[in-house]
Amino acid sequence: MLAFSHNLQARLSSPLKIGQLEVKSRVLQSPLSGVTDLVFRRLVRRHAPDSMMYTEMVHASGLRYMKQLPQIMEVDPNEQPISIQLFDCRPDFLAEAAQMAVAEGANTVDINMGCPVNKITKNGGGSSLLRDPRTAEAIVRAVVRAVDVPVTVKTRIGWTDQEITILEFAQRLQDAGAQMITVHGRTRAQGYNGPANWEWITRLKKILAIPVIANGDIFSVAAAVNCLEQTGADGVMCSRGTLGYPFLVGEVDHFLKTGREKAPPTSVERLQCAREHLWMLWEYKGDRGIQQARKHMTWYTKGFVGAAELRGQLSVIETVHHGLELIDRAIAHLMEHNSYEIAQSDPALPVSL
Ligand SMILES: Cc1cc2nc3c(=O)[nH]c(=O)nc-3n(C[C@H](O)[C@H](O)[C@H](O)COP(=O)(O)O)c2cc1C
Repeated sequence: MLAFSHNLQARLSSPLKIGQLEVKSRVLQSPLSGVTDLVFRRLVRRHAPDSMMYTEMVHASGLRYMKQLPQIMEVDPNEQPISIQLFDCRPDFLAEAAQMAVAEGANTVDINMGCPVNKITKNGGGSSLLRDPRTAEAIVRAVVRAVDVPVTVKTRIGWTDQEITILEFAQRLQDAGAQMITVHGRTRAQGYNGPANWEWITRLKKILAIPVIANGDIFSVAAAVNCLEQTGADGVMCSRGTLGYPFLVGEVDHFLKTGREKAPPTSVERLQCAREHLWMLWEYKGDRGIQQARKHMTWYTKGFVGAAELRGQLSVIETVHHGLELIDRAIAHLMEHNSYEIAQSDPALPVSL
């Protein structure tokens, strides 16, 4: 059974304070480009209603030339707490974009200073700001001046192993007015490879006054608890662990609040969730939603007899009805052969947005 020290329980029993904002959960759903759209967040929030969630990252200067807000910036009127994440290297563009984010309903504005992708870093955005702390600081100052919600930053521990700069970098951002820092415990050079290094997060937590959120390799409730124990961080952020598994944030939140583990979803329940995800993506985005759903479907289809075959079929679906039919057939098969896996609830019917 998973242990939960009294120390940790006491430390995490109060809300997470991000400036003036109080968040009733210490586990956050990370921004994931191509994943954390309004549909995905809706599924995560069903199990984690109190958690802070993030949109996919939005290019600030791109917004200047658009007649209407891009769909990735869209927020459900009732979804809170929600952060809109922006990336760019121009403080003035970011300040303008932050105002649009707040008008859309963002409770905080997050600046991406961690993205490792070349296309972003060669234009001075994402993790390249780790090498340009003066601009990073100017960005935070400009955005803080422009909006009256807390401004936060998500970044990495450094550019390379030889250039781990998170301690000085984060301190400068705090001085510039950032109200929370999330640290992905990898360098830019690592990308997503190798284990996340939580040690630097521990060191950072000791010197910052604002909340520090630990990110990297939180794939289970046990990992979340270990990370919080080890780093002393104010919260944890789940990322790849939520791909095809929008239950993780809720599982961690439940454990942190009650000290008890939730039973994981059965394969049938996961497939019911996949079915709903597919339907909602189609309703929200049409055929583009189907293209995006293919990758989600491959993430859901793991860990049961026939999963590999279903994965192959779902990865090439052309229509929503074909996808639903494949999933329904798999659910019926699982229910027939594994009665213990029958879900508590009725098979999920598509729910309209
Ligand atoms: C598909 C994908 C998309 C991502 N998109 C974003 C993004 O838009 N903004 C961001 O700050 N980080 C983004 N990240 C990084 C994650 O939020 C997270 O920092 C990283 O995956 C480390 O956590 P993990 O080891 O638990 O996955 C992305 C990662 C992946 C795998």
